[in-house]
Amino acid sequence: MRLRREIEFHRRSKEDLNDFIKKLELQALETAEERIPLYLEAGLKDAKLTLDVGCGSGVVTRDIAHFTKGNVIGIDGSPDMIEVAEKVLKDCRNVKLMVGGAHRLPFKNNTFDIVTCNLLLMWADNPQNVVNEMARIVKPGGRVLASLEPDYGGKLHWPENQKIDPVFAGKAIKKKGGDPHIGRKLRFLFVKAGLDTKVGIGNTRIWSCEEDKSYYLHARDFYVKALYDAGLKEKDIDQWEYEYLKSLDEGVQLNFFPQFYAIGTKPKA
Ligand SMILES: C[S@@+](CC[C@H](N)C(=O)[O-])C[C@H]1O[C@@H](n2cnc3c(N)ncnc32)[C@H](O)[C@@H]1O
Repeated sequence: MRLRREIEFHRRSKEDLNDFIKKLELQALETAEERIPLYLEAGLKDAKLTLDVGCGSGVVTRDIAHFTKGNVIGIDGSPDMIEVAEKVLKDCRNVKLMVGGAHRLPFKNNTFDIVTCNLLLMWADNPQNVVNEMARIVKPGGRVLASLEPDYGGKLHWPENQKIDPVFAGKAIKKKGGDPHIGRKLRFLFVKAGLDTKVGIGNTRIWSCEEDKSYYLHARDFYVKALYDAGLKEKDIDQWEYEYLKSLDEGVQLNFFPQFYAIGTKPKA
């Protein structure tokens, strides 16, 4: 019943799905530098079997498959996303994909060497339950890795915009059903799941204005839609965009928001 609810929740219109896939592709590219060292730290290279929970369109699973000698399973609650992932991963012979919910992972205890998720916990109904499940199915001595879990409370930028800033400081995520403060909760979630835990911030580098502008222009539709959905007027959005792009062109805009990760090791009895 819960899985059906999760699947319905993640069903999107074709247009929304295409936009979402485009965004995930760009995000995967922009964050590869942060994620790949974490995969290596978790021991991905020598892992025999890895699970990627909430694999989405498979762009991150593709990186995981590339950096391991073993096999990888990708699981996602959305059949639409798995359909896309099947195309994205068609040349990866070491990957299998399946539809399934993260709150009750359909695997036996102690099955995987590594269980990963990227940008998943912030969207989970019950993130503790998801981490517990990941911990249950990883082998003793194996690793659970959650990457790119943001904390919008830590968003810093300058110059400010009083009307727009609260939307991007968590309101838009909350409205979509996500937890904008999941980053700060990672240690709690992992320790409560019985894992020996290390947490950190993956993105310490601050992007240049050129990088920021290029990302914004690619993902513009999402930003503008989030502002409309938050009830902002067209004239305010236009004004903000004008000022934002101007500050990027002048090279004075500074933007940072922390993306947390947690690596947990399951104790050997
Ligand atoms: C933001 S996307 C990230 C996708 C992918 N990990 C990436 O980084 O490109 C979150 C994904 O988690 C999936 N998801 C969210 N809640 C889920 C749940 N309870 N069970 C399984 N998948 C879930 C969504 O369908 C979506 O594909």
